[in-house]
Amino acid sequence: MPFIARRLGRIKPSPTNVLTGKVAELKAQGRDIIALGAGEPDFDTPQHIKDAAVRALQAGETKYTPIAGTLKLRQAIARKFERENGLEYDPATEITVGCGGKHVIFNALMATLDPGDEVVIPAPYWVSYPDMVLLAEGTPVFVECSEQTGFLMTPEQLEAALTPKTKWVILNSPSNPTGAAYSRQQLKALADVLLRHPHVWVMPDDMYEHVVYDGFEFTTIAQVEPRLRERTLTLNGVSKVYSMTGWRLGYCGGPKELIAAMNIVQSQSITHTSSITQAAAAAALDGPQDFVEPHNRLFRERRDLVVGMLNEADGITCRKPEGAFYVYPSCAGVIGRKTPDGMVIADDTAFVTYLLEAEGVACVQGAAFGLSPYFRISYATSTEALEEACRRIRRACAALGQPRT
Ligand SMILES: Cc1ncc(COP(=O)(O)O)c(C=O)c1O
Repeated sequence: MPFIARRLGRIKPSPTNVLTGKVAELKAQGRDIIALGAGEPDFDTPQHIKDAAVRALQAGETKYTPIAGTLKLRQAIARKFERENGLEYDPATEITVGCGGKHVIFNALMATLDPGDEVVIPAPYWVSYPDMVLLAEGTPVFVECSEQTGFLMTPEQLEAALTPKTKWVILNSPSNPTGAAYSRQQLKALADVLLRHPHVWVMPDDMYEHVVYDGFEFTTIAQVEPRLRERTLTLNGVSKVYSMTGWRLGYCGGPKELIAAMNIVQSQSITHTSSITQAAAAAALDGPQDFVEPHNRLFRERRDLVVGMLNEADGITCRKPEGAFYVYPSCAGVIGRKTPDGMVIADDTAFVTYLLEAEGVACVQGAAFGLSPYFRISYATSTEALEEACRRIRRACAALGQPRT
C-alpha cells in the first residue's frame, strides 16, 4: 500500500506475538490448545511490588517523570548493578529506563545506527533484534551458532564477523530461544576479540540473568572485562525475573553520551514509561529477592521434565540448557516424514503447524530465530500442561511415517 512507509517493508510482525494471537483465536473457537509460545513466567507479580504501585497511585505519583525515569528508580538500578554485577553507573547520567527491555534496545539502535552500519547478531537470536536493526536502517550480520558449540558464538566466529562497518555486537545470555549461557571464560574470550576492535560496541542483553540452573554463575561482559565498559550498554529489565511483563519497564547502564542520545530519542517518542510502573520497579529492585530461588527450582524441574520427555520423542533431540525458560530441540529427525494426512514435514515451520493442527500444541519454529530445523518451547507454564504437551508431541512424532531409506 503506497500510503505505508517503505521502511515498514523491511520488517515483519514479531512471530511470537503472531503466534499468541493465533492461539487466542483457536481457543476462542473452543479448541483445546496448550500454548508453549509465550516468553513470560506463569507466576504473578510479587505482592510487595503491587503494593508499591498502589502506594504510588495513592500518593499522587501520577505526573510526568524525568525522561530517563525517576532518580529514585535510577538509584535503585545503580544499586542493583553494583550489588549483582559489580558495575558502577552514575544514576544521574549513565542509566536510563524505557518501556520494556525491547524498547531500550530500540532506543539504543535508533540513537546509534546510520544506514549501512552493521550489527552482529548470533543466531539463533531473539526474534526482535534483526527487525529493530532494519527499522533503524542498519544491517544485521548473522553468526550461525550451531548446537555443536552449545548454540554459543566462538571467538573465531566473532573475529570473522567484524568489519570496519560493525557498530554493535549483541550478546544475549542466557539466551532466548536456546537457554544457552556464556561462562565467565567464554565471555572473556569474546571480550579479548573486542579489545582488538576499538570501534565496536557491545550490548549484553541480560534479561534472563536470574534464571540460571545447576550452580551456573551469571556474568556480564563489562564485569568480566572492565576495559570494555566505555563501549558497553548493559541491558536488563524487570519483565522476566519479577514477572512484570505487562508493566513495561526495561533499563540499561552505559556511557553518558550514549545514554543522553537515547534520552533524546525517548523524549520525542514515549517520553517515559508509566510513573506507577517506575515506583513498582524500584520496589522490585530494592525489595526481597527470596522468591527467585524457589521459582528457579520449579523452572529447573520443568526443564528436566521437558528435556527428558522430548528426548524420548521419535525424531527429536533436546539439549539441556543452562538458563532462561526455553528449550530449543532439534526436529531434524522428522524432516521428510509424512503426517497421517499425507503432508510431508518439509521444515520446522511445517512441523510446528502439524503439532498445532494435529495435537493443539503451540510452539515456535526455529526459522523465526534464524536456525533450523529446530523449534522453541517455553516451559514457563504449569507442569501438568507441560507433561500433557510433551505426551502430545511424542504421539504426533510416533504418528509420522518412517523416512524412505
Ligand atoms: C532476550 C530478550 N530480550 C528482551 C526482551 C524484551 O523484554 P520486555 O518484555 O521487557 O520488553 C525479551 C522478551 O521476550 C527477551 O526474550
